[in-house]
Amino acid sequence: MTTAREVAQRIVSGRGLPEETAGRGRAPANIALVKYWGKRDEELNLPVTGSLSISLGPLGSEVEVSPAEGPHDAIWLNSAPQPLTGVFARRASAYLDLFRPAPGYWYEVKARNTVPTAAGFASSASGFAAMARALDDLYGWGLSIRELSVLARLGSGSAARSLQDGFVEWHAGSAPDGMDSYGERLPAEWPELRMGAVVLCAAEKPVGSREGMKRSVETCEFYREWPGRVAADLAALKDAIARKDMAALGTVTEGNALAMHALMAATRPPIVYALPETVAAMRTVWAARQEGLPLWFTMDAGPNVKLLFEAKDEARVRGLFPGVQVVAPFG
Ligand code: DP6
Repeated sequence: MTTAREVAQRIVSGRGLPEETAGRGRAPANIALVKYWGKRDEELNLPVTGSLSISLGPLGSEVEVSPAEGPHDAIWLNSAPQPLTGVFARRASAYLDLFRPAPGYWYEVKARNTVPTAAGFASSASGFAAMARALDDLYGWGLSIRELSVLARLGSGSAARSLQDGFVEWHAGSAPDGMDSYGERLPAEWPELRMGAVVLCAAEKPVGSREGMKRSVETCEFYREWPGRVAADLAALKDAIARKDMAALGTVTEGNALAMHALMAATRPPIVYALPETVAAMRTVWAARQEGLPLWFTMDAGPNVKLLFEAKDEARVRGLFPGVQVVAPFG
C-alpha cells in the first residue's frame, strides 16, 4: 500500500527553491452537485466514483505557513490559537507530516476562513487546498493545478475540487497511487447561476463524512447501485452545464443529493442528517417549483440546505427563505 507521505514526497522531492520565510495560499470552498460518497482507498482519499462541484468564488480559505521554532506546530484559525489536541490542529499537523523535511521540524499555520462560519458551507476542502498552495509558495515547488489537487486530496477528498473556480470535475482515476485522481475545471461559465445557503442548524453533526461514507461502503446494501447512478448523473450534469439548462442541472443535482441521503439512511446503523426543518425546506422548494419557480436544492452531510436558482429569481427565493445567504459563484 502506498502511504500519503510517499505520494506527497514523490510529487515534491527534487523540486523547489530556497525556502521562503512564509508561503501563502487561498482557495474557494466548493459544493458538490454530483456527490462523492465512498472511498476505494482511505489512506489516499481515493473515491469510488467521480464527482462534480461548483466553487464559491471569494468564499473559502486563506492560509499562511512558515517554519517555526517548535517544539510543536503552532496552528491559528481566524486569529485564535488552536489547542493541539483539538480536531483542527490535529488534522493540520497530520497534513504537515506529509511534508516535513525531517522529524522535529515545525510549522506555524495561520488559517482564515472567508466562508462565514455559520453559513453551512464546509471549509475543510478550501482549507486543505489553500494549505497545499501555501506550502507550494513556501518551498517554490511550482506545482501544476493537477499536482496541487492531488496534494490537497491527501488532506480531504473534496479538497481535490477546490483548486479552481467554476465547475470542477474530480476524476475518480484508477491508479493505485491516485496520481490520476484530481480535479479539473470544465470550460463553462454561468454568470446567472446562484447558490443560496439556508442554515437550519449550526450544531456539530452527529456523524462526520469520513466515518459516514466508510460505514455506507461497508454496510449499505444499495451501495453497489451508487457508482452506476453517479456515472449517469455526471453525464447528464455535464450535458446540462454545456447547454446551460437550469431545469436539467437542478433535476440532476437534487436527485443525486437525495440518492446519497437514501444511501445514508440505508447504512447500518442508519445515518439521517435531515431535521424536521430540513424536510420542511424541501417541501417549500417542491411547492414553489409546482407553482413555476425554477428552484432546486442540494444537501451534504448535515441538516442544512443549499438552494440552486438563477439571478432573475433571487427576490422570490428570498421571499421564501428570508435568512438565505446568496452566493454568485461566477462573480
Ligand atoms: C457529502 O471530502 O469531507 O460533502 O475525504 O474523508 O475528507 P474526506 O471527506 P469529505 O467528504 C465530502 C462529502 C460530501 C459530498 C461531496 O463534497 O462531494
